Amino acid sequence: MTDPKKSAYRQNTILAHAGLKPEQNQGIVNPPVYHASTVTFPTLEEFETRDKPPYNGPQYGRSGTPTQFAFEEAVTALHGGHKTVAYPSGLAAIAGAMNTFVKNGDHVLVADTVYGPTRGRVSGNILARAGVEVEFYDPLIGAGIKDLVRDNTTVVYMESPGSITFEVQDVSAMTEALKGTGVVTLIDNTWASGYFFKPLAFGVDVVIEAATKYTVGHSDAMLGTVTVATEEHYQAVKGMANSYGYHAAPDDCYLGQRGLRTIGVRLEQHYKNALEVATWLQGRDEVKRVMYPALADDPGYELWKRDFTGASGLMGVELVDAPKAAVAAMLDGYDLFGIGASWGGYESLVLASYPGKLRTARPWTGTGPVVRYHIGLEDPADLIDNLEEGFKRFNAAR
Ligand SMILES: Cc1ncc(COP(=O)(O)O)c(C=O)c1O
Repeated sequence: MTDPKKSAYRQNTILAHAGLKPEQNQGIVNPPVYHASTVTFPTLEEFETRDKPPYNGPQYGRSGTPTQFAFEEAVTALHGGHKTVAYPSGLAAIAGAMNTFVKNGDHVLVADTVYGPTRGRVSGNILARAGVEVEFYDPLIGAGIKDLVRDNTTVVYMESPGSITFEVQDVSAMTEALKGTGVVTLIDNTWASGYFFKPLAFGVDVVIEAATKYTVGHSDAMLGTVTVATEEHYQAVKGMANSYGYHAAPDDCYLGQRGLRTIGVRLEQHYKNALEVATWLQGRDEVKRVMYPALADDPGYELWKRDFTGASGLMGVELVDAPKAAVAAMLDGYDLFGIGASWGGYESLVLASYPGKLRTARPWTGTGPVVRYHIGLEDPADLIDNLEEGFKRFNAAR
């Protein structure tokens, strides 16, 4: 079979075929699930050199099986990258990628709008304990990022759009400005996934995704991926993953790969449903602002339109000023919006979020309560009916 990664096939074709090797698996279409700890070798010499770079095959279950490698190959093909490393969760991928490129005494620049645990756990705990100085920057800084680079800056970390408040970063202006500085650029691309945005084509070095979300797509597995453009970065990322003993479980890699086969049709539907719901929300008196870059009056719209080919199902809503009890009354009574962390599955979700607690470089100026919706694959008319009922509860309690 032609290698889809190296061919001119379009992305839905790539997604349908990448990572498949029926000729190696008795004609069976899907790569089997290998459960493994021990891997045996024919000679002592091969055994004793098994974990020396280059890492290119099964050595021990922890460092990967053909199930994991097939999943990694498919993710790489989606991104047009060089190679991918799978992790046991999105947060593990963030911590693993960050740790690969920093050391004691370094300075790193992290977008102010990143996912909460990237800020609190990875930056505030792991990196701080390792003696790495983290500076949060305004995500809208663009080419101005270069002015923040010091002699000891090793990493610029992006997330676009940002968690909770959905600011879109000018990724190409940033990577262009950072050329020649030696700084490694990382991005959390979970919102768009490689389906709607391909950061490597915009000059980013390392793409991180919580595959738990749209890649798996069914709210039933934890998984992360790190995709890179060069063999040097792959060896560094894989070597660090091996050092930490990260292991992406074979059943979860199988689910990740299965999810990729339908990520295109799912995301196109999430996009359609979310745009319909976001537009409806904009017309409500209870809503101050909908934060969703695919809306023409969103501050990130022009950049989104330039760089992305679609939008996912996740959005933020700032409500009119109201007590928490009114928000709780609204959320508690929804039939179709579960209250829960995560997103990217087929179902709709909601939670209250607090951007004011998470911003320093670009302080949050909103005064109303903020709610995050994940718009799933239900009929949007039913979701809108649910939201309308919710606003009645909200109004009765404020
Ligand atoms: C933007 C973003 N990145 C990373 C993660 C972490 O992924 P995981 O839950 O798989 O650890 C999340 C989880 O919600 C997220 O929203």
